[in-house]
Amino acid sequence: MAKRQLVLAVDVGTTKVSALVGEARTDGELAVLGIAATPVAGMRRGLVFDLERVAMAVRDAVNRANSMAGTDLTQAAVAVNGEHLSIVPGQARISIKTGTIREDDVRLAMLKASSVSLDGDHEMVQVIHRGMSVDGFRGVVDPVGMVAKTLESEVYVVSGLTSVLRNLRRVMSMAGINPVQVVAAPRASADGVLADDEKQLGVVHIDVGGGTTGVTVYRGGHLQYLGVVPLGGESVTSDLSLGLGVVATQAERLKLEYAAVGVARDGTLEVRAVSGQSVKLIAVKDLEDIVTARIDEWTHLVEQHLARLEWAKGPAGGVVMTGGGALLKGLGSHLENRWGWPVRLGAPYGLGGLSDLSKSPGYSVVVGVAKTAMREGVKREPDTLWQRVVQLWVSLWN
Ligand SMILES: Nc1ncnc2c1ncn2[C@@H]1O[C@H](COP(=O)(O)OP(=O)(O)OP(=O)(O)O)[C@@H](O)[C@H]1O
Ligand SMILES: [Mg+2]
Repeated sequence: MAKRQLVLAVDVGTTKVSALVGEARTDGELAVLGIAATPVAGMRRGLVFDLERVAMAVRDAVNRANSMAGTDLTQAAVAVNGEHLSIVPGQARISIKTGTIREDDVRLAMLKASSVSLDGDHEMVQVIHRGMSVDGFRGVVDPVGMVAKTLESEVYVVSGLTSVLRNLRRVMSMAGINPVQVVAAPRASADGVLADDEKQLGVVHIDVGGGTTGVTVYRGGHLQYLGVVPLGGESVTSDLSLGLGVVATQAERLKLEYAAVGVARDGTLEVRAVSGQSVKLIAVKDLEDIVTARIDEWTHLVEQHLARLEWAKGPAGGVVMTGGGALLKGLGSHLENRWGWPVRLGAPYGLGGLSDLSKSPGYSVVVGVAKTAMREGVKREPDTLWQRVVQLWVSLWN
């Protein structure tokens, strides 16, 4: 009987750690066997600030996902997040001395393309394949065996701060996890929810988390941009807490139940004051002004990322939002009105097994990490040339 191809994926978010145990099915689908999320304290804006508390949450989420799946996996693909992430384009052309492209030529071209120079305090997180050209003809999928004079590889290197990555590895080791692969959270989130035809058409993906907002753009089937805004739904909650004089749990409840972007409502709400028992009246307009001010700031920061791309007519596939923060009422129509592009909420797709449990937009990253690990075949015998190249990078990274 063929060996089961299992993957463990972990996403250490600002508000929760998610873990997923999945199985690569023969039809290429990811079957979810176990999935769990544990609230976490000790993270800020996607970065680890309290090793022990974060490690505890990782241990808990992984144990729960493993026990649902009846597995005991400790080797994981792990997402890294934060404003420090950036992408650097790399390309290299090599000449084919033998006249026929061999696997070694492809490896060499890709490795050369990924040897970009990074800032001294940064290191390589992930290499994203953008395309290959043979004698100047772009879009070749597998050039091995082709007669050619030159082979060109184009990649994006995702880099991140070494200190952040070290802390993430430390947390994993404290939790008994061996991180065999690291992927950028915004890219993973996009992979969890975007269909290939959307990526081909052109699409903006925005993952609105608790402490970060990941921005990725795809065009022509490939990633064109990746950036992270260090702001998410937690800022709205803390503004409401400060502005309305209520405790954070109360502010979070107000946000989930009443807050909406871009609507003007009258009336008052009764809430418990900070001190506990006394009841306080809050004007709905005050609540909405606070939410709108923060969302305006957030929108400007996202737009600064989008302004780095040139659009003739905007993304034909529109905007896809994920992350818990994307559930804020009115956010989608606020962005549609402002940008004039269709905005929809994305949910993980193309899953089998416990797929209903995995459909929350807050799980898009962990689903994308599992899909990446499955596609790149890190823990199994590689089937394709690209998988073999990825394994080489993984071994360099570890
Ligand atoms: N229905 C809702 N309306 C508004 N906000 C919501 C809703 N549900 C969840 N949120 C917000 O979503 C945020 C958490 O989202 P998510 O789980 O994607 O974050 P995370 O992955 O932990 O953080 P990050 O990706 O920034 O590291 C919280 O700020 C929470 O208040
Ligand atoms: Mg997240």
